[in-house]
Amino acid sequence: MEVITSVERMKEVVDAIRAQGKRICLVPTMGALHDGHLSLVRMGKQHSDVCIVSIFVNPIQFGPSEDFATYPRDLDGDKEKLQQLNVDFVFAPDAGDMYNRDFQTRVELQRLPNHLCGLFRPGHFAGVATVVLKLFNICKPHVAVFGMKDYQQLRVIEQMVSDLNLDVRILRHPTVREPDGLAMSSRNSYMSPEERVTATKIYKTLKEVEERIKAGDTDAVSLETYGRRQLETSGFSVDYFSIVDPETLDSVSEVAGSVVVAVAARLGKTRLIDNIIVTP
Ligand code: PAJ
Repeated sequence: MEVITSVERMKEVVDAIRAQGKRICLVPTMGALHDGHLSLVRMGKQHSDVCIVSIFVNPIQFGPSEDFATYPRDLDGDKEKLQQLNVDFVFAPDAGDMYNRDFQTRVELQRLPNHLCGLFRPGHFAGVATVVLKLFNICKPHVAVFGMKDYQQLRVIEQMVSDLNLDVRILRHPTVREPDGLAMSSRNSYMSPEERVTATKIYKTLKEVEERIKAGDTDAVSLETYGRRQLETSGFSVDYFSIVDPETLDSVSEVAGSVVVAVAARLGKTRLIDNIIVTP
């Protein structure tokens, strides 16, 4: 496994791999890797000859009052985990190499960010789309894997790939959970032991709403109110509890076909997100 920190070196390496006719997979991450990330890597390896995992805490996707400075970083631990999976390359660029002082371009989507997390994190998805397009241009992957835990992010990337005719196939990986249901996240390490117990309420509430839908409840607004109240009663500060169309992320009023039930809620200083797709 080679760890590459220079953009130029990464480009040389992928050009040589492509010249050999080999298929490249990219798994973009911000590091502090957990079993969810590693499962994405395994999926990527099944669809490629050469696997690149990028580790880059992308400054332009964090708002001014967000956790860029305190975001967990563990490059040595990450390298060990990726070595064990026989990853071929770790791409861990310097921020200065990715964004020089003259950097001024953003990839901005017109509609998908006007929902869910986009309403609470202005500029976040432009920061994500911009860095992912840069990573695609540098690593030239045939396939790239993204997790459904960050469902809005996944839709933004799929839409960008379609809108800009990018030659990369996006693979969706299901959300990987702890045994008690909590979606794995690098940010779970922020929680106190008490908060960690309370956090299980998120997935429990999503599953309760799913049960109500499967039992025939189609009134999205009352289901959303129910979900929000359940979490507020447990001590969460809820940004949103929303039932949306899986493609457009527009709110639905009536649950007719498949929907995404999505939540973002804060527990102390930790902001947690989760979602499930429900088909009535
Ligand atoms: P990060 O939060 O490190 O996540 C990297 C990838 O792992 C994303 O595709 C995310 O959806 C996926 N992932 C994280 N937790 C998961 C879980 N419990 N189950 C399944 N997949 C999971 O998302 C980012 O980094 C960044 O925004 C990035 C795309 C790298 C751009 O900077």
